[in-house]
Amino acid sequence: MSTQTFRLDADAALLQPVQVGDTAATNRLFMAPLTRSRADADATPSPLAARYYAQRAGAGIIISEATAIAETANGAYLNTPGLYTDRHQDAWAEIADAVHDAGGKMFVQLWHVGRMAHSDISGFSPVAPSAIAADVVTHTLTGKKPLETPRALEIDEIPAIVEQFRAAARRAIDAGMDGVEIHAANGYLLHQFASDVVNQRTDAYGGSPENRARLAAEVVEAVVAEIGAGRVGLRISPGNPAGDMRENDATGTYEALLERIAPLGLAYLHVLIDPATRDFGVIRALWTGTFVLNTGRATGTDFCQLESYAEWGAISAAAVGRAFLANPDLIDRLVLGAELNEPDVSTFYAPGPAGYIDYPTLAEVAEPRSA
Ligand SMILES: Cc1cc2nc3c(=O)[nH]c(=O)nc-3n(C[C@H](O)[C@H](O)[C@H](O)COP(=O)(O)O)c2cc1C
Repeated sequence: MSTQTFRLDADAALLQPVQVGDTAATNRLFMAPLTRSRADADATPSPLAARYYAQRAGAGIIISEATAIAETANGAYLNTPGLYTDRHQDAWAEIADAVHDAGGKMFVQLWHVGRMAHSDISGFSPVAPSAIAADVVTHTLTGKKPLETPRALEIDEIPAIVEQFRAAARRAIDAGMDGVEIHAANGYLLHQFASDVVNQRTDAYGGSPENRARLAAEVVEAVVAEIGAGRVGLRISPGNPAGDMRENDATGTYEALLERIAPLGLAYLHVLIDPATRDFGVIRALWTGTFVLNTGRATGTDFCQLESYAEWGAISAAAVGRAFLANPDLIDRLVLGAELNEPDVSTFYAPGPAGYIDYPTLAEVAEPRSA
């Protein structure tokens, strides 16, 4: 990423408030979900997480790092959090309080990693729609290892996964969160089911676009029934090759999915697509509700482009990842046209406070905090 400056005028579209389902966001720059691998060994969020997120409460909405719905759903990376025990819920409640006290709003991103898990990390053999391994090497406690061939889920195991999403969403709301984002992107379980390559099932969850979309749709419906559509967002990344994901048809499944869930009136649809490489208009045309775009460029966020999209009404809001990671006061910096801190890749997933809660605000640059 290159150092950049960009100034947003006070009347910039991205700085205008927006109602997102039940949540009133003060601006349209959301913090994208960012795994930080700092949770305890039992998947309780780090004691530093409340501070980390509260520092970034200037975001219109903070979307949390991906959070496991069950012990068996975790294990793609070391030390990723969960939301399936009372201890997890208490820690998320502290985070919700800290963010709210700082004036922010927050959704928890819920995932099941499917074939991206490694048994050395999770303690369980990975499961997936079909027994097709991702050609990916992951970091385990004993070094880098290739991912294992997952076991294809039996059809009668699927309702329990839907139920785990529902239960985790209930815990998120009981913890005081504003909502949840269902993670159906980036090569994890719901994305695996959506793929016409990775999903080779011949039952009701494979074959046609409607069948491949079925699991994500059932999860969305169950979570909506539990906590209300106004508190539910959905993240998709059609065509994203992350996690050795392959999709010959990266449109059909999403057409089927969005058509099925459109009547529910979700808080938002969050789409990760780089408009430079893929036209997001096809997906945009399928969604009349709140539309959040994350562009995910190797070169960093083009705020100028995002502002244009927001001005045209092509997007309702933009999600920004690495720029928020490195700039707790991102909104203030954009308003002032100030230089942005560069994200330090070496501490993205490293344990401890460095690169987590110590990125300086502009005020701290002017007057460094004492040790
Ligand atoms: C360190 C790191 C962790 C990430 N963790 C997640 C995650 O937990 N869930 C998710 O959906 N995307 C995750 N992503 C993808 C980001 O949400 C986002 O799509 C990506 O960083 C591109 O956006 P950006 O250019 O604004 O950073 C992660 C990205 C990074 C760099």
